[in-house]
Amino acid sequence: MAKFKTALEQKFSSDYLLGTIPYAPKLSSPRVREIVQQLDAEVLYGHNRLDNLAVNYAIAAMQLEHAVTRLKENTLVITPGDRSDIILGLLQAHQSVKYPHLAGILLSGDLQPPEPIRKLIDGLYDPLPILSLSVDTYETSELLKQVKTSLVVRNYTPLTEKVDRDKITLSIQLFDESIDLSKLEQQIKTIKAKGITPKMFTYNLLQQAKSQKQHIVLPEAKEVRILQAAAFMIERELVNITLLGNIAKIEQIIKQNNIALNLSQLQIIDPATAENFESYADQLYQLRKHKGLTLEVAREYMLDVSYFGTMMVYLGDADGMVSGAVHTTQHTLRPALQFIKTKPDCSIVSSVFFMCLEDRVLVYGDCAVNPNPNAEQLAEIAISSADTATAFGIEPKVALLSYSSGSSGQGEEVEKVRNATAIAKTRRPDLKIEGPIQYDAAVDLTVGSQKMPNSQVAGQASVLIFPELNTGNNTYKAVQRETGALAIGPVLQGLKKPVNDLSRGCTVDDIINTIAITAIQTQRS
Ligand code: ACO
Repeated sequence: MAKFKTALEQKFSSDYLLGTIPYAPKLSSPRVREIVQQLDAEVLYGHNRLDNLAVNYAIAAMQLEHAVTRLKENTLVITPGDRSDIILGLLQAHQSVKYPHLAGILLSGDLQPPEPIRKLIDGLYDPLPILSLSVDTYETSELLKQVKTSLVVRNYTPLTEKVDRDKITLSIQLFDESIDLSKLEQQIKTIKAKGITPKMFTYNLLQQAKSQKQHIVLPEAKEVRILQAAAFMIERELVNITLLGNIAKIEQIIKQNNIALNLSQLQIIDPATAENFESYADQLYQLRKHKGLTLEVAREYMLDVSYFGTMMVYLGDADGMVSGAVHTTQHTLRPALQFIKTKPDCSIVSSVFFMCLEDRVLVYGDCAVNPNPNAEQLAEIAISSADTATAFGIEPKVALLSYSSGSSGQGEEVEKVRNATAIAKTRRPDLKIEGPIQYDAAVDLTVGSQKMPNSQVAGQASVLIFPELNTGNNTYKAVQRETGALAIGPVLQGLKKPVNDLSRGCTVDDIINTIAITAIQTQRS
């Protein structure tokens, strides 16, 4: 038996043991927000700091001079609410560079500081969270032991995440560092996936971006979501980043919003004081003087972050640009359309969305750029979208959508789609292309095989091309809202160098995905 057990243990250790993930106190420590929610505590101060992590707890019942010597980093200190001396001493200790940062103060015994002390704290800039509970100190410490932490944050404010991004990042980092991934891959490669699922797709985006680190410029550095996305990308070493804007202002926003972004790991350029400002303005003047642009106006344009960022990409000072969380599509794209221009084999810039449905990822084009493409342009959108699909691991089966399937329908709009399909088929005989086809016949096997039994695309389309922007934009938004699908994009195609636009309602995840996509496009451009 002993011999058998040893053999089994050996088998496990050699063949199956992939590594040991170390204990990370941060992962099991609750946010102050979770303590407030679970203990129903009253928040007296520090509403902006409820995302602080409470890694340690301490009871301060002794004299201040002894209590402060026992403080550790990220401690939530419990003290009776009438100990004004301790409360003020802890606030001071937290400010002092000689003592650790605290997570907050929890006042017990249903006692709150008297008015003069409250007035003093009221006058502090951005104080620590100070919470109040009605139970006594012993019961408070017992209750704290029952607080649970989760990767999903409830009652988040518009600026905080629904998920605890820091903890998720740390979990993935620990996993990547501790587990033998090649061994894991070998063990699971017998499971054959049917197609690409949204989780695989977004995971692959980050892995692919990391495989060859690119340099992305983010012009909207005054936007909190952009800084949060930048922090994520830097922390995971996915891309190099340049932020555009005033350094002091960016630093202030980072501090105010408690964003874990280490500025020494990225570049910040303020266009107004940039070393390259004059040469960039002159370059723009040279590129656009035939359109009547003067050097003076070129200088004015160069103060605009979209123009400055696009010029960095044009001149190779950055590999790609992501913007649009604050600016309109037109503001973001116009510089790229004006001087980055289209690739030699493309006449227009168009876009796709990766629509991450529950069990598959579809490609929708063009839902963001070209208001009313003609047949030639529609064919080009179909081809570019198929190539984008391939580049991101999706086998393209292209459906050019219309209100009629096959040869039955008539009308100007159907004719346009019919012509576009013929052009696309002639230009790219290697692709599977169908059109005109209705949406249901394109994606539903039963309907598809009834309406177009001999089609290689009907019922299984992965790339759906809309006849014009009105239909495309409304459809992608309808699918996104009604099914909860993640819509990644718009991803621009056809530009010589990658620039991508964000929707102004974008989340931090949308920005992260778009930066990763831009990095992957630059790897291939
Ligand atoms: N491909 C290539 N070049 C183009 C394109 C294109 N699709 N569109 C315009 N250009 C070029 C023009 O040729 C011109 O170049 P030039 O100055 O060297 O001659 C330059 O760009 C500017 O042309 P304009 O006609 O002035 O284009 P403008 O900048 O006004 O608009 C834009 C371009 C923004 C793409 C416009 O077509 C547009 O507004 N599209 C709709 C955007 C939109 O509202 N989308 C829906 C919302 S996005 C969302 O929901 C995620």
